[in-house]
Amino acid sequence: MDSFRVTNDGPLAGEVVTSGAKNAVLPMMAAALLADGISEITNAPHLKDMKTMSDLLRVIGCRISGAEHELLIDTRGANHLEAPYELVKTMRASFYVLGPLVARFGRARVSLPGGCAWGPRPVDLHLKGLEALGATITVTHGYVEATCATRLKGGVFHFPISSVGATVNVLMAATLAEGTSILHNSAVEPEVDATVDYLLSMGADIQGRGTRTLTIQGKTELHPGKGRTIADRIEAGTFLAAGVITRGCVRTSQVDPSHQEALLDVFRRMNVGVQVGPDWIEVDARNRELKAVDIVALPFPGFPTDMQAQLMAVLTTIPGVSIVQDTVYTDRFMHVAELERLGADIRLKGDTAVIHGGTKLSGAQVMASDLRASAAMVLAGLVADGATDISRIYHLDRGYEDFEQKLMAIGGKVERIHGTGA
Ligand code: UD1
Repeated sequence: MDSFRVTNDGPLAGEVVTSGAKNAVLPMMAAALLADGISEITNAPHLKDMKTMSDLLRVIGCRISGAEHELLIDTRGANHLEAPYELVKTMRASFYVLGPLVARFGRARVSLPGGCAWGPRPVDLHLKGLEALGATITVTHGYVEATCATRLKGGVFHFPISSVGATVNVLMAATLAEGTSILHNSAVEPEVDATVDYLLSMGADIQGRGTRTLTIQGKTELHPGKGRTIADRIEAGTFLAAGVITRGCVRTSQVDPSHQEALLDVFRRMNVGVQVGPDWIEVDARNRELKAVDIVALPFPGFPTDMQAQLMAVLTTIPGVSIVQDTVYTDRFMHVAELERLGADIRLKGDTAVIHGGTKLSGAQVMASDLRASAAMVLAGLVADGATDISRIYHLDRGYEDFEQKLMAIGGKVERIHGTGA
């Protein structure tokens, strides 16, 4: 397993070009299963999770090809309607194939993902939503089996809580159901809109894009899709946070600033200089006295839970008391103990962390516990005294393309050490 050695080398400065969004391209890849033929996705990032989804589609019988940052998914051989535990356990988004497979082929068998690093992550809403469309669901031997007679039937479903994954899974299934489906309290994250756009490119009939009510008129068949992956708002946000924690000046380009308003509001409240262009964002924390702030992670358009760990790292460097609450994933605090190893003063109670910022951080050996927590440890390492050795960097490789190259290009000192770490 690879590890990172991160060293404090002063403020970061420069521009980072944002890659395509992991959380958008994964449902687009699953959506390809809804049609017979070759679907095309451009601006696809090179990530471990993409490889996992490609492997899963190959198991199902698809062929995957394409040039750099392009995916061609040929579904003409898709006939093995099963997602095995070995793949699903390494990436929960594998569960996205359930809706498309049962909608198109009338049956699917997909392993339950199990818990993740920071606690249980249920899939009950995916299943209840599919049941509302007429699927019969049974769970045996750790696998979900979904079947329907000939086609799913349009239905009405109200998501009791906002769920990105359940929304896209049920939405994809509804595009091939017989009749009209209405999905109330759908998630409105940009990645859901991106999935809607891809489904529209396949000939789906979906009304209400960007709102909490999606109305889908099911089609008997869809044609292969064609679309460009939207920018990764979390990757861009992470590099902006790296600029802020080092008291530098960083610009991210090829982003959609309208996806980042909650994050930019936090930066402004911190007294960071923020400039926004049509497709770029710049943060400037040079020679500024930054302020402690309170943050609550919420579904979009609220502050994203996927930026919570990185912002907590930033807050450990700002004198004063900051409070971070995560209402989306209430247990997502594995990074707290690791930040404490570097000298941070954080008290955790339930879904809320109280950060007494401004303590001196000193490099230590730490462990990356999940994807975004890994990024938080890198950020902290950029300002800690001495070297910070971060093991289990495979978490980071799941979701950041060329991470260390991009960081080094703006002045970060990070070295990948191959084949070490527990
Ligand atoms: C997606 C993102 C993840 C992000 C999360 C929240 C992908 C591949 N992953 O995950 O990076 O952190 O959105 O923005 O896009 N829930 C249930 N039952 C369900 C499904 C979800 O109770 O069947 C709950 C979850 O426990 C959580 C909340 O709903 O408390 C939101 O989770 P959800 O939006 O579904 O997250 P994911 O789609 O798994």
